[in-house]
Amino acid sequence: MKVLELTNVTKEYTQGKMQVPALRGVNLSVEAGEFLSFAGPSGSGKTTLLNLIGCLDRPTAGSIELAGRELAKLTPLELARVRRQEIGFIFQSFNLIPVLTAFENIEMPLVMLNRFTPAEIREKVMAALEEVGLAGLESRRPAELSGGQQQRVAIARALIKNPKFVLADEPTANLDSENGQAVLDLMARMNQKNGVTFIFSTHDPMVMGYARRLVRLKDGRIASDEEVDRHAKAN
Ligand SMILES: Nc1ncnc2c1ncn2[C@@H]1O[C@H](COP(=O)(O)OP(=O)(O)OP(=O)(O)O)[C@@H](O)[C@H]1O
Ligand SMILES: [Mg+2]
Repeated sequence: MKVLELTNVTKEYTQGKMQVPALRGVNLSVEAGEFLSFAGPSGSGKTTLLNLIGCLDRPTAGSIELAGRELAKLTPLELARVRRQEIGFIFQSFNLIPVLTAFENIEMPLVMLNRFTPAEIREKVMAALEEVGLAGLESRRPAELSGGQQQRVAIARALIKNPKFVLADEPTANLDSENGQAVLDLMARMNQKNGVTFIFSTHDPMVMGYARRLVRLKDGRIASDEEVDRHAKAN
């Protein structure tokens, strides 16, 4: 099932009087359950593309259909609802709230959905902590966790509401290779077990090695788009 379709997407940023072209006609179709990475040099448009897919910004031209909805037709409020209900985000710098514990960071998206009792939330958060290998650390604040542990809290937070998509902009860029691999293994497991569609970005060949589809960007265009045979990593 197709979950994302980009047609001729362009994005120009305005810098003073200058127009900076960031995307120049991107066409991309993504099926449910894909594990896709954008790769490409600095400035090639990876973050711009993820921000558009994540409803954090709008394209200058072209169309983006996410889960059957044309994003250009949605009001800002509707876009925010799509973002809140259907998309999980993982960031390069983890973006955890420093004064909140691991538990409180993870429960936040569920609390905002306003749909679950405290007991239900507690059960889901404890299960998520277990799933990402952090059982027992729920009371720690981000500063009391390693980088790898903080990113696993962020993954639990992204997955807690069972999103259709998880978008991750360079999720391992601030981690050493061991923690980076642990985070990718976890993402791959969630993708296979729960069928969540993952779209992430990286410069790192090790990370690209995990992708099952690798889309290379260059100067705001797709330079190549290939399926990767990942039997070795698919466990
Ligand atoms: N808010 C902005 N205002 C103006 N120009 C921007 C803005 N954000 C990005 N750009 C420009 O758009 C282009 C694409 O940037 P983008 O951040 O998408 O690249 P990237 O592939 O994510 O790079 P990196 O690997 O360094 O994160 C670059 O030329 C960048 O300078
Ligand atoms: Mg970027």
